[in-house]
Amino acid sequence: MKLKTKSLTIFLLLSSFSFSNSTIFREQDDNRLIKVNQEDPPKWVTQEEINVLLANKAHFMDITDHKSPIHDVYLASQEFPETLYFQSFIKPTFENISIPRMTTFVNSLAKFTTRYHNSQSGVDASNWIASQATEAINNSNRTGVTVEKFANPWRQNSVIARIQGSDSGLKDEIIIFGAHMDSINSKNRFAAAPGSDDNAGGCVTVMETFRVLLASDFVPKRSLEFHFYSGEEVGLLGSGHVASAYYSKRAKVRAMVNFDVVGYNAGKNQIGLVTDHTDAKLTKFLNTVVQEYCSYTAFEHADIHTKRDTSDKMSFEQVGEFVKLAVATGIELGEKS
Ligand SMILES: *[C@@H]1O[C@H](CO)[C@@H](O)[C@H](O)[C@H]1NC(C)=O
Ligand SMILES: *[C@@H]1O[C@H](CO)[C@@H](O)[C@H](O)[C@H]1NC(C)=O
Ligand SMILES: *[C@@H]1O[C@H](CO)[C@@H](O)[C@H](O)[C@H]1NC(C)=O
Ligand SMILES: [Zn+2]
Repeated sequence: MKLKTKSLTIFLLLSSFSFSNSTIFREQDDNRLIKVNQEDPPKWVTQEEINVLLANKAHFMDITDHKSPIHDVYLASQEFPETLYFQSFIKPTFENISIPRMTTFVNSLAKFTTRYHNSQSGVDASNWIASQATEAINNSNRTGVTVEKFANPWRQNSVIARIQGSDSGLKDEIIIFGAHMDSINSKNRFAAAPGSDDNAGGCVTVMETFRVLLASDFVPKRSLEFHFYSGEEVGLLGSGHVASAYYSKRAKVRAMVNFDVVGYNAGKNQIGLVTDHTDAKLTKFLNTVVQEYCSYTAFEHADIHTKRDTSDKMSFEQVGEFVKLAVATGIELGEKS
C-alpha cells in the first residue's frame, strides 16, 4: 500500500475570534472515506457530515488516505514471553517516575488553547512535545536516541522519539508506545479543548516512560519508539498515516501499546486493557506485566471511549501505574530474545 501525499493549500483564516480561540487553518473540503464500525463497508461523506459526527462524539475511522485499516501480519504472528525476567533491573527504575513532573507536563499541554490537528495552538503543542523529548535526550547525554517530527497532510506533526536497539539481529524490530496528542471541543472546533485526561495523560505516560528509560541507561536489543499522534479525534488520522508509512517500509512492529484516557480513576484501582481490535496474545502478556509490576489489578474491557477534560479529575498515581506497565514492557520485550 502506498502512502498518498496530497498537496494542500493552506489559507489563514483572517478573522476576529475571541481571545480564547485558536487560529484554525482552512479545512480541506473534499469528501472523506470513513468506516463507522468493523462490519459495514466504508462510505464517502462530506465535511459537513464529518462535523455532525464530531459534534455527536461518534466513533469513526477516516481511511481516505489508506483505504482500509492496516493489519500488521508481522505483529499478528508474534508470540510473547510467558515468564518475566528483569524484575531486579526494572523495579528500581520506578523510583524515577515523578508525579510532580507528570502533573506539570499535563498542565502545560492543557494550556495550549486547543490541540486540534489543524490549529495554530495544535502546531505549537506538537512542537513543544518534540522539544520536551529533545530536552530529555540532551539531559541524558545519550547517543542512539532521536526525535522526529512526522509530517502530515495537515498542519500538526506527529512526534516520534526512538531508542535505537543494540542487537544487529533484533534492532529492526520495534516496540511502540503511543498516545494521541490532539484534543477537540466537539461543539466548536475553534474553542478551548484542554484535553487533560483525553489525552495529555496518555502523552505524559509515553513521555515519562521515555524519561525513566533514558535515566536507567537501559540499552534495548530491539528498538523502542515513543509516538505522539496528531489527528486522532477526527478519525484516527495521525496514527493511520504512521501505520501506513510503516506498512510501506515493512517495519517489523513487534508490539504496540496505546494509551488513551488513563487518568480517570473510578475508585477501583484498576488498569483497563482494551480487548476489541487489539492483539489477544499481547493483551495476555500485558496482563502478566500488570500482575508482576503494578500496584493495581488489570481488567479487560471493550473500548468505551469517554471524554473528561480537566486535570483535577485525574489520578496521577494511576497514570504512574501505566508508566510502570510501559517501562516494564519496554525492558522485558526490548531485551528478551
Ligand atoms: C538540545 O541540545 C542541542 C545541541 O546541544 C541544542 O542545540 C538544543 O537547543 C537542545 N534542545 C533542547 C530542547 O534542550
Ligand atoms: C556526555 O557524553 C560525552 C560523550 O559521550 C562524554 O564525553 C561526557 O563525559 C558525558 N558527560 C556527562 C556529564 O556524562
Ligand atoms: C534514576 O535517575 C537518576 C538521575 O537521572 C539516575 O542517576 C539513576 O541511575 C536512575 N535510577 C534507576 C534505577 O534507573
Ligand atoms: Zn482519546
